[in-house]
Amino acid sequence: MTSPSQLTLRRPDDWHVHLRDGTMLELAVADTARQFARAICMPNLVPPVTTRAAALSYRQRIQAACPAGLDFTPLLTAYLTDAIDPQEVAAGYEEGVFAACKLYPAGATTNSDAGVTDVRNIDAVLESMQEIGMPLLVHGEVVNPEVDVFDREAVFIETVLEPLLSRFPGLKVVLEHITTRDAVNFVTAAPVNVAATITAHHLHIDRNALFDGGLRPHAYCLPVAKRRGHREALRHAAVSGNPKFFLGTDSAPHPRSAKESACGCAGIYTAPVALESYAEVFEEEGRLERLEAFASEYGPRFYGLALNAGSVTLERTVQTVPEVVENAGQSVVPFKAGQELRWRLRQRA
Ligand code: DOR
Ligand code: ZN
Repeated sequence: MTSPSQLTLRRPDDWHVHLRDGTMLELAVADTARQFARAICMPNLVPPVTTRAAALSYRQRIQAACPAGLDFTPLLTAYLTDAIDPQEVAAGYEEGVFAACKLYPAGATTNSDAGVTDVRNIDAVLESMQEIGMPLLVHGEVVNPEVDVFDREAVFIETVLEPLLSRFPGLKVVLEHITTRDAVNFVTAAPVNVAATITAHHLHIDRNALFDGGLRPHAYCLPVAKRRGHREALRHAAVSGNPKFFLGTDSAPHPRSAKESACGCAGIYTAPVALESYAEVFEEEGRLERLEAFASEYGPRFYGLALNAGSVTLERTVQTVPEVVENAGQSVVPFKAGQELRWRLRQRA
C-alpha cells in the first residue's frame, strides 16, 4: 500500500487540555488553537475553577490570549471539591458556561489538593449531573501511597469507578488519559455512557522512556506511562474505530525549571505537535483512515455537540521538533523535543 503524501481531516478538537493561566496562558492557547477548533480546558488553576464567575473570567482570559485569526472555542469545566454547590454546577451547565465537571481525587496530581477526598462526598452533585446529562471527567487514580504508582489506575477502576457507576448507572463518564489494558477493557465493556480519552504521549512512550539512559523528567506525567503491553492495548483501542475512545492530549506545560528539578512536576507538553504525534501512531498501526473519527467525530458525539465545519491538512514532511518553545519569558520543553516527526500540520493562512 502506498502512503498518502497528505491527509485532510475535519477540524479536530482536544477533549482534555491544560491551558494554564498567567504568563503560560499565551503559549498554551496559541499552540492548542493552531491544532484544534475546540478544547475542554482543565480547571486545575490556582485557585481552581469552581464557580460560573470564575469560569467566565477564565474563558475571557483564554480568548484574549488567543492569537488573532485563529478560530478557537474553549469549553470550560468545573473543579469538583467536597464542598461544591450542586446548584452552581447545574446552573453553569444549563447556561452553557460549564461543559463538564472534573473529578480530581485530592492529591492525585498537579493542583489537586482542593479535590475530592472521598467520592461519596459528592454524591449529590453526581445525582444532579446524571439527571441533566452533564459529563463527569475523571482523573482515575487512587492516592493511597501504599498502592504502587503503576497500579493506581487499575485500583481506582475497581474500588472507586465501578461502585460509582453502580450508584449512578446513567451518568456520562469520561475516564481521562487512560494508561492501562485494564482501563481499555473496562471502558469497552461498559455501557455507552462511559468513554475514555487517550493522549498522544501514552500511545508513544512506555515506562522505559522515564529511564532512558538517565532520569527523563520530560517523560513524566500522571498517570505515569506503563509497561509496553499496556501501550499496545491503548494503541489498539485508539485505532479500533470504537467511538468510546477519542482524542484528549492532556497537554500540560510546566516551565522547564519546574520539570528539570529534584522534584519535577508531572506533565508532558504535546500541544505544538499533537496531531502529528497521533498521525504517526495511526500510520504505524496501518489505520490512518481512522484518525479523523478519533480526532474529530467521536468526542463531539459523546458530548452531544455538533461536528466542526472546515478541515485541516497534515503533510508528510519530516519536521524536527524544537528543543524548547518560548513565550513571555516562559520556556517549555515540548514532547519529542529535538526528535523528528513524519507529519506536519499545514498552518492555515
Ligand atoms: O501529567 C499531568 N499533568 N497529569 C495531570 O493529571 C495534571 C497535569 C498538570 O496539570 O500538570
Ligand atoms: Zn490533565
